Order: sequence, then structure tokens, then C-alpha cells
Amino acid sequence: MQKETDFLIIGSGLAGLTYALKVAEFGKVVLITKSRIDDTNTYYAQGGVAAVTDSLDTTQKHITDTLIAGDGLCNEDVVKIVISEGPERVAELIKMGANFDKDANGNYDLAKEGGHSEHRILHHKDKTGYEIQRTLTEQVAKNPKIEVLENHFAVDLITQHQLGFTVIREKTNIECYGAYVFDEKKKEMMTVLAKITFVATGGIGNIYQTTTNPEIATGDGIAMVFRAKGLIENMEFVQFHPTALYNPGEHPAFLITEAMRGFGAILRTKNGKEFMSKYDVRKDLTPRDIVARAIDNEMKIAGNDHVFLDCTQLDAKGLQAHFPNIIEKCASLGIDIMKDYIPVVPAAHYLCGGIKVNKKGRTSIQNLYAAGEATSTGLHGANRLASNSLLEALVYAERAARFSIPKISDIKINYNIPSWNDEGTVHLEEMVLITQEIKELKQIMSSYVGIVRSDLRLERALKRLEIIYRETEDLFDRSKVSREICELRNAVSVSYLVIKMAKHRKESRGLHFTSDYPEKSKIL
Ligand code: FAD
Ligand code: SIN
Repeated sequence: MQKETDFLIIGSGLAGLTYALKVAEFGKVVLITKSRIDDTNTYYAQGGVAAVTDSLDTTQKHITDTLIAGDGLCNEDVVKIVISEGPERVAELIKMGANFDKDANGNYDLAKEGGHSEHRILHHKDKTGYEIQRTLTEQVAKNPKIEVLENHFAVDLITQHQLGFTVIREKTNIECYGAYVFDEKKKEMMTVLAKITFVATGGIGNIYQTTTNPEIATGDGIAMVFRAKGLIENMEFVQFHPTALYNPGEHPAFLITEAMRGFGAILRTKNGKEFMSKYDVRKDLTPRDIVARAIDNEMKIAGNDHVFLDCTQLDAKGLQAHFPNIIEKCASLGIDIMKDYIPVVPAAHYLCGGIKVNKKGRTSIQNLYAAGEATSTGLHGANRLASNSLLEALVYAERAARFSIPKISDIKINYNIPSWNDEGTVHLEEMVLITQEIKELKQIMSSYVGIVRSDLRLERALKRLEIIYRETEDLFDRSKVSREICELRNAVSVSYLVIKMAKHRKESRGLHFTSDYPEKSKIL
């Protein structure tokens, strides 16, 4: 089956939905998502959106905090753009109906998280992502120009490669003509031809055993762009959130928002000792990379599988008002957070790198734009400041729309595209071949490419991954398309990119810590 459109959007999180609403006036929009529309990382966001909305705060302070967290690798121009344009984008969200909490005086009840010098995080209790996803989903549903296709999986981007031309990486002449998409319900491949394609496929958390990310986060967009020979960068900077609820076997790991530490909660060892003051003067509100490493270290010293977060000394009414979702979740496991410490452990949470985009949201491939967690804009550098990712997705989705809309009149649909060729392939009978590979991959990434790395660990990870890569490619070539085989293939690609880029960085900086090069290099 073939479909054509002006804008093809892949992904229904904050970035995809924002872009859809912005471009809908200017052409036909097809938005595909591999699961339900609200099955996104966006939906799970807790803490909120960082934006300067208070007279005590300044754009400069937010810029400085972002640069400090980014540990020397942020693009300063990009930081200025995102922090300056952010408040206007947040105001648009509010105008569309997103409710952010206010205090008794009617001012926004701004929270504080690690690395922020001011209270500046707008939130909807501890379910900010739910509120944002709800608002945008409702707007998209009302817009007749946007066709949403749920359970449609983007398998590969279409470029000159499919026309039989050799495409050379890093050449800027690669063009995108749309994507091959798998309709999961009909079990049918579609060719979606588009003038502009927009990738908003989110992160990669599921290449690790413990992650806060829902199952959809398998790095598909990054892997597709990599296969299409687009530029990818900064993949070594994987952010581990310091405090996921320790509840072995639960997927995704339930997040205990950093806003709790902003509210006064304290990290303690299993025998009740406060420890963050040993690591940094900012104690529990130190940027995440340092807190996650400190927890990892404390767990290793004591041989424990978690530490604790202590809220017992905090105002119970305040806790109830700000964190009802967390209180309910803990209660369901028999933890009364007013009386009991919460067991917490770091979990893979966010990818700072990804598809390289310029300030217009354009990838290195023509007619291919991208935004959100799948991208590397230069905002986060070596470590993302808490609650800056929703902001980045908002700002860059709008920028990508602003700069791609004028192109649409000059681009012609390319009709000369062959259908997906699955000649000689068969339905995979043995699902265990896939499930076992993914299990092994997660084990490799968690054991050797986690919070602390070394040359030896990375070398070992690469060797083991190569075996999985060969077996997966062989399986992919022989099998009819399925979501499972595609996700495995993509997870292998993004794991490869994380390991390769981690191996290449011979220093410790931000989220990348290697015991062989514990210092930061002076030359950037
Ligand atoms: P997502 O929201 O993840 O959307 C990705 C979309 O792409 C999904 O619809 C998915 O189905 C689709 N997709 C993926 N692959 C394919 C494919 N092959 N074909 C078709 N569709 C595909 N950030 C903050 O700033 N503040 C917070 O408080 C915060 N809290 C967080 C809490 C949790 C538990 C988590 C997991 C993340 C949190 N983050 C937070 C990070 C933030 O939520 C994400 O970075 C952001 O929402 C990403 O938005 P996105 O639109 O890029 O991707
Ligand atoms: C949190 O609420 O702690 C998550 C915030 C973020 O990831 O930015």
C-alpha cells in the first residue's frame, strides 16, 4: 500500500504532537506512532518543565545552570535560544489547556530540582507529562488536517539508497522521501511518501535492564537515521536518574521525582546515614550525574542493591499536595512515605545525544527534520539539567516547523520509490530467538556500559554485541517484518553507537565516567 502526504511525523510524544499542530495549517499531515498515541516517555514525565516565569529568576541564571550541568559541551548559542524561547512555548501550552499548579496567591507553584539555582519548574502535581500529553492529544484529535495512525511502526527512512544509489555518510546530498511503515494490525508494509519527514521517536532506555522509560523507547529513530547515513553524536551521554523506586521486576521502573529532593527529601544509606554531603556542597540537589555516581558508589561500598530516600521529616500536607501519585504508588507496595524510607536505585532515564540537528531542527539529511529526545541539539552537552528536556522538545519542534514549512512548496513527492521487498522471507516461528538476544543485550549494556565504564568493559561489550549484531542481521534478512525484530535491530544499532562513542571519549566528563581516564580532558 502507498500513501502520500506533505508532512510525515514519526512519534506522538511532546515533540511529534507539537510539530503536528504547528504544521497542520500548511499541508496534509500523517502522524504515525508504533503504539497508542499516549504511550510515550512524555506521558511519564513527573517533575515538570523548566522555564523562567518568575520575576526573581532570570534567563541568564537558567542559561548558567544549563551550561554548568552540561560540563563544557553545551552549544552556548543553542542554550540561549532554548532558554529564551522556552517561556513563550510554555505559554502556548497553557493557552491550549495545560494546567500547571498554582499557589494560594495564584502564582505558579515553581519547584526546584538538582542543578537549578532557582525555583523554576512548572508542574502538574507529580504527573506533568500526563497533563501535557492529554492537552496535546486533545488538540490533535480536534484537528481534521492531522491523520493519526496508531500501531504503525516506522521501519526505515526512504533515501536514495532505496533507489539503488550509493550514499556516502557525511555527504549532505542525502535526501529523505518518506518512510517504510509496518501496519501492525494488518501485518502489512506501507510506503509513506512525504515532502518533509519529522522524526520524534524519543529515547533508548530499553537497551538497559533497569529504566524509567516505557517499552517504546528502543532508539528506533536514531537507528533509522544511522542506517540512512545521517549524523549521530554524543551517544555516550546516557543519563541515569538517581532515584527510581527499587522494586525488582517492575518495568518500567517507577520514578521518584527529583522534585522530592527539591522539596527537602534526603538520600541515606541502608543504615540511615546521609551521604551526599561527602560528594558535593550542593548535597542532594547536586546535578544528576554526580548524585547517580555517588549512589552507585555507596551501593558498591556496602554491597547493597539500593539506598533510601527519606521524606519522613517533611510536611505531610505538602507532600500529599505535591506528590499524590508517588504516595499512592508507594502505598500500593506497603511503603508509607511519611513514616518509611523509600528504597531507590539509579535507572537509565534519558539520552543526551542522538540525531544531530542544526538550529533549524534539520538533520544532516535533506527534508528530514527531528526534535525531542531522539536528537542532539547541543542544549544538554555532557549532562542534561533536570526538566530541560520537555522544554527542548517544545522549542525545537516549533523551530523545526517554522523552518520546514517554507520548504514545502519547493519539494516534489518522489514517486519513483520501490515497495518494501520481503521476497524470500518467512514468518519467524521462534520468538525466543529475539527475546533471548534482547535479554543478552540489556545485560551487556547494564554490566559494561552503565554509570561507570572502563576500556576493558567497553571492549568486552563491543565483542559481545558483535555476535548479537550478526545473529540479528541474519534473522532480519530471513524474517517477515515484525515490531519485535525491528526493535531488536534498532536496539543493537543504538547500543553499538553508545559503546563506540564511549570508547572514543578518553576522559571523564558529565555523564561519561571511565575509571581509566577519571579526569576531564583540558582540550575540547
Ligand atoms: P516520546 O515522548 O518518548 O515519544 C516518542 C514517540 O515515538 C512515541 O509515540 C513512540 O511510540 C514513537 N515511536 C518510537 N519509535 C517509533 C517507530 N519506529 N515508529 C513509530 N513510532 C515510534 N523531562 C523533563 O523535562 N521533565 C520531567 O519531569 C521529566 N520526567 C520524566 C520522567 C520519566 C519517568 C521519563 C521516562 C522521562 C522524563 N523526562 C522528563 C524526559 C521527557 O519526558 C522526555 O525526554 C520527552 O518527553 C521526550 O519526548 P519526545 O516527544 O521526544 O519522545
Ligand atoms: C524528575 O521528575 O525527576 C525527572 C525530571 C527530568 O527527567 O527532567
